Amino acid sequence: MDLGPPPGPEGSVAPHTTAPPKRQRADSGSSTSVESSRSVRTLTSDDLEYTHENGRTYGNETYYLPCVYMPNNDFKEQDRLSLQHQIFVHALQGKLTTTRLLPSTRRILDLGTGPGHWAVAMARQYPHAEVVGIDMTEWDLDTTEATLGDCRVTWELDDLDVWGREADIDDLTARLAQYDFFTETTLRNPIESPTRAEHSLPHSQPDTSVESLTIDLSTLEPQPEPGWHFSDAYELIHLRNMKGTFVHWEEVYAEIYKSLSPGGWVEIADYDLGQVPLPAGDHDPSALPMPTLRKLYKSLMEASFKSGRPLGTFYMHPSYLEEAGFTDVQTLHVNVPIGQWAEDEAQRTIGKLMLVVVMETFEASLLRLLTKWGDSEKIWTAEELMAEIEVAQQEVGEWCVRAERREVEGWCASFKWITGRKSWHA
Ligand SMILES: C[S@@+](CC[C@H](N)C(=O)[O-])C[C@H]1O[C@@H](n2cnc3c(N)ncnc32)[C@H](O)[C@@H]1O
Repeated sequence: MDLGPPPGPEGSVAPHTTAPPKRQRADSGSSTSVESSRSVRTLTSDDLEYTHENGRTYGNETYYLPCVYMPNNDFKEQDRLSLQHQIFVHALQGKLTTTRLLPSTRRILDLGTGPGHWAVAMARQYPHAEVVGIDMTEWDLDTTEATLGDCRVTWELDDLDVWGREADIDDLTARLAQYDFFTETTLRNPIESPTRAEHSLPHSQPDTSVESLTIDLSTLEPQPEPGWHFSDAYELIHLRNMKGTFVHWEEVYAEIYKSLSPGGWVEIADYDLGQVPLPAGDHDPSALPMPTLRKLYKSLMEASFKSGRPLGTFYMHPSYLEEAGFTDVQTLHVNVPIGQWAEDEAQRTIGKLMLVVVMETFEASLLRLLTKWGDSEKIWTAEELMAEIEVAQQEVGEWCVRAERREVEGWCASFKWITGRKSWHA
């Protein structure tokens, strides 16, 4: 399928394009793909440039989370994602999707599939569908398949960030100052594209600077249009846990829209931990519970802004889907307890898993962000970060014990699913 270029926000080209579009994403059926019985790859292992930092391995220079590293038997991140998958399924009471997908569905795509738990489970539930899972790094798919059972998933190794545009860090840093990470977890504003944000920020000035252009004649040759170029449309495109992945989400949603068949669904699932509990009644702001956790959460958010890919579930704001053309946009929220404080047995089980995930998520999400980009005050060393993480983990553990004893309010993670549909007449 030949897809057009992604539109700039509000019909214009964003002014912060610093790099030309990256290489084209080849289609699954392309002759450049390396095919085996179970995978189609437009990248091969040799194309991957893993970087090793502070004992963890990363798939590229920008994405904040580590990946699995098989030569070293480092499966820590895969184990964390496996637990997280179980929580997503528990939270939906055993379901894998909030869409009203028909059993006759033929094509399903999972973007950023990671170890592929969702893709494998969907392939088992929809045996007649072709399920494709794409990720930019290699995961231990054998273990996922062995755990969840036999199925037919096509795995593609590919970098979905085909636009190669970097964020305007000054613009993001300016927004950082206006933003309360603990209460405004779902606003869209922090990651609106720079062009859009210029109209909505209260003190923004019109950009009167004139850029000097150096024309590279080779770029005047016809270029492949940036996009994903799938040969056939999908009926469901799913993304889970993809916060912090892309710079301008408008382009991603426009691309998803183009890659769906009429009536097709997009579904995005993610969660955040921003609503840290407050003590009952009036409280002294300098004596808030879990102070180290709060400090680290704030640093995490600041560092993510500085990295150009803000964390948080802003990218799930319904307006993104509506502007891309989706209709019937619906959001589902589920609170998942952290720790075993709930009365209901099933909730206690999920809360126990969630507590393990929270404890493991500290290192996974903070290590690269704080040691590479740093928060508003400093670049951290791994040693000082690990010491603070230990304190924050103790705070969380103690809070959970006190919540079980009913001494304090229980803490919940906020899980969210948003779906939209491409019009039948598109
Ligand atoms: C937090 S994991 C989520 C994995 C899976 N969706 C799940 O919910 O278990 C995010 C995944 O996105 C992948 N990813 C990040 N940036 C990507 C990119 N530019 N192209 C393809 N995959 C990417 C990472 O390699 C990682 O596997």
